[in-house]
Amino acid sequence: MGAENDPTNTIDRALSDLRENVPPRFRAAATEQALRDENAKILGKKGELTAILKLLGQAPPAGRKAIGEKVNALKQELEGAFDGALAALRKKEREAELSAPPFDLTLPGREPVPPGHKHPISIVREEVVAVFRQLGFAVFDGPEIEHEANNFTRLGFPPDHPATDMQDSFWTEGGHLLRTHTSNIQIRAMMSLKPPMAFIAPGTVYRRDDDATHSPMFHQIEAFLVDRKVTLAHLKGVLAEFAERMYGPGTPVRLRPAYFPFVEPGAEVDIGCAFCKQPDGTRAGCSLCKHTGFMEILGCGMIHPVVFEQCGIDPEEWSGFALGMGLERIAMLRYGIPNIKLMFENDPRFLAQF
Ligand code: PHE
Repeated sequence: MGAENDPTNTIDRALSDLRENVPPRFRAAATEQALRDENAKILGKKGELTAILKLLGQAPPAGRKAIGEKVNALKQELEGAFDGALAALRKKEREAELSAPPFDLTLPGREPVPPGHKHPISIVREEVVAVFRQLGFAVFDGPEIEHEANNFTRLGFPPDHPATDMQDSFWTEGGHLLRTHTSNIQIRAMMSLKPPMAFIAPGTVYRRDDDATHSPMFHQIEAFLVDRKVTLAHLKGVLAEFAERMYGPGTPVRLRPAYFPFVEPGAEVDIGCAFCKQPDGTRAGCSLCKHTGFMEILGCGMIHPVVFEQCGIDPEEWSGFALGMGLERIAMLRYGIPNIKLMFENDPRFLAQF
């Protein structure tokens, strides 16, 4: 066998070709992907070095060990060249990044994050607060753990009133309880500020009630106004305006006499049902309004002189009105939600509908 045909020589030549050509090919790759592609052409399953290894079988057995060692040495060399080229590429990229214009934090994210949903109670609360703010009311806040004086006594509840007993209220200690309504905020505002005043007060309230339309924790909004010569007509005007802005122009409002210890006269307010309203403005009656064409939305009245006296305000000089509504009720009527529990379970399938 002549030296020409000895596969050992062919292999040797192929190896030194690779030793010479591959490192410049690695260095020429402009991106990491191009570099890896180039690497696969040499060291991959169908790569050039792998092909040479396959020739090994044709070499005389005596020379195979030496060739094997050469191949391994070259393999390590080329891996070193690959690592060097990769490090150089990364360094270049990093330098380009550092000298480029600064990263723009105001750009939107790449992953489209689905927007969240406001809770129906938040939607309704924001709407009600917005309507009253348009009418000139400012927001006032008060605590959820309240003294019975502000929750009951100063509001004119007689000491044996059923609302004050253990059935309705969550009592804590020392005459404190979880407030049963947002009317405590009337007291706090009137005891700390001089009239005139007009406030809206959203808040969480608690009662020992638990069924399809009652939850032990729920939300109310209180609105009250104190000034000279305030009459029931002002209250009706505000209610009509509220109904129009919340439920659309021409929404009828009716007051039914009702008893609350802190108002005189007191009333419950119904508005024309939002669900069975016909195009001509009449109401057909439906299950949501129990076929009356009206839905009850809040309690209200003229602030009782006794309440003014309790807060150090002269009832001869000042008068005012107050109203309070349950936000769950407003949301249930607005969206036709059949069970109050749905609003507290935080099931995304429910919340995603708003
Ligand atoms: N606080 C009363 C309730 O929770 C509602 C109300 C507020 C009634 C203001 C009249 C005036 O039922």
